[in-house]
Amino acid sequence: MALRIAVLRERAPGESRVALTPETAKKFVALGAVVAVEEGAGLGAALTDGAFAEAGAEVGSAAAVVKDADIVLGVQAPDTAALAGASPGAWVAATFDPFRESARVAAYAEAGYEALSMEFMPRITRAQSMDVLSSQSNLAGYKAVLTAANVYGRAFPMMMTAAGTVQAAKVFVMGVGVAGLQAIATAKRLGAQVSATDVRSATKEQIQSLGAKPIFVENVAGIEGEGSGGYATEMSDEYKAAQAELVSSHIAKQDIVITTALIPGRPAPRLISDAQVASMKPGSVIFDLAVAQGGNVEGSRPDEVVEKHGVKIVGYSNTAGHLAADASALFARNLYNFLSAFWDEEAGKPVLDEEIGDAVRLTQGGKVVNERLTPCLLYTSP
Ligand code: NAI
Repeated sequence: MALRIAVLRERAPGESRVALTPETAKKFVALGAVVAVEEGAGLGAALTDGAFAEAGAEVGSAAAVVKDADIVLGVQAPDTAALAGASPGAWVAATFDPFRESARVAAYAEAGYEALSMEFMPRITRAQSMDVLSSQSNLAGYKAVLTAANVYGRAFPMMMTAAGTVQAAKVFVMGVGVAGLQAIATAKRLGAQVSATDVRSATKEQIQSLGAKPIFVENVAGIEGEGSGGYATEMSDEYKAAQAELVSSHIAKQDIVITTALIPGRPAPRLISDAQVASMKPGSVIFDLAVAQGGNVEGSRPDEVVEKHGVKIVGYSNTAGHLAADASALFARNLYNFLSAFWDEEAGKPVLDEEIGDAVRLTQGGKVVNERLTPCLLYTSP
C-alpha cells in the first residue's frame, strides 16, 4: 500500500505557517505517496484547499486525513491526541522544541510514535537544504528589521532634501548567525549605518563582507565562542563583563538594535539590561528576536511593544510566521528535501541513515532515544 503522508492544520496559537505546499504535495505524489491535507490547513499562508487538491492531495477533516497515516508533517508538532488513528509507529516530522517540551516528547514515546525533530538536523553540508532553523531564521532576520523600521519614528537612509538633511539610522545587530546576517543585509539595503557583534570571531569577516562594522571584544582569554556544529557556547564571566562594557558604550549611540543570540538547549543569553535600554536615546527601537526563548533584552515580552525609558522594545514569538507564505514554502521544501533524500524506491518510503536519523529522532519503540536529551530525562513506557 502506498505510503500515506498527512498534514494537519497547525493548532498552536498564532501559527500561520503550514508544513506542505501544493508544490511539495505534487512532489510527494510523484514519489508514489498518498498525500492528505486537513481542510483550511494552508489558509494562513494563502494556500487554498483547491490548490492542494489540484496538486493531487486529498483534502478532508483532521480525523480522515490522519487515519492510517505513516508520516505526519507539521510546523509545530501536534499533540499526540491529534494523531489518533495514525499507523502504529508513525513518524512525525516537525519542530518539537525538545529541550523545553520534554512532556510532549515523553507523550510521543508513550504513544509509540517516532518524533523527528527538525531543530536537531545536523549542521553538515548535505543537510543544509533540510535545515528549518536556517530557512526560518533568515526570514526572521529580514522581518525584524522591517518591523523595527516601521515602529521607528524616523527614516533609515540619509536623505538630502531642500528642507534639510535626514540622518541615516544607526543599526546594531547582536548575534550574527543566519538571522543576524540577513538583518545586517536588510538594514544595509534600507540605507542604515550598520554595526554588528557576535561571540564567534569567525563572524567578523562576514560582517565586513556585508559592508557593516564589526564591534568585538578583544584581548580576553577564551573568546573563541564557537562550540560544536557552528553553534555558540556559554562564555566565561570575564568575557561577559568585557562584552557588557563594550556594548554599553556602543549601544548608547544606536537608534535600532536587533538581537538574535541563541544558545541551543539554554535560555537565550541576556545581552541588554534595563540600564542599557535607559542609556539609549528616546525614540530608539530594539527588536528582540530571542523573545520566545527567554529574551536577549530585559523587559521584552512576546508579541508586545513595551516602552521603557522612551525606547520601544519589540519581539514576536514567531517572527518567521509573520511571512507565512514564504516561511511555509521554505519549511515545506526543507521537509521534502529531508524525506526525499532518503527515499527507498523498493520500500516506497524513506529509510533514514544513522548520521541524520539518529540526530533528529527523539522517540522510537516507546522510548526517548536521543542522546542530546539528558539521560535523566530518558523515558521508558511501562
Ligand atoms: P543561533 O541561532 O544558534 O544563534 C544566533 C547567533 O547568536 C550565533 O551567531 C551565535 O554565535 C550568537 N550568540 C550566542 N551568544 C551570543 C552572545 N552572548 N553575544 C553575541 N552573540 C551571541 O545560530 P545560527 O544562526 O543558527 O547559526 C550559527 C552558525 O551555524 C552560522 O555560522 C551558520 O552559518 C552555521 N550554520 C550551518 C548550517 C549547516 O552547515 N548546515 C546550518 C545553519 C547554520
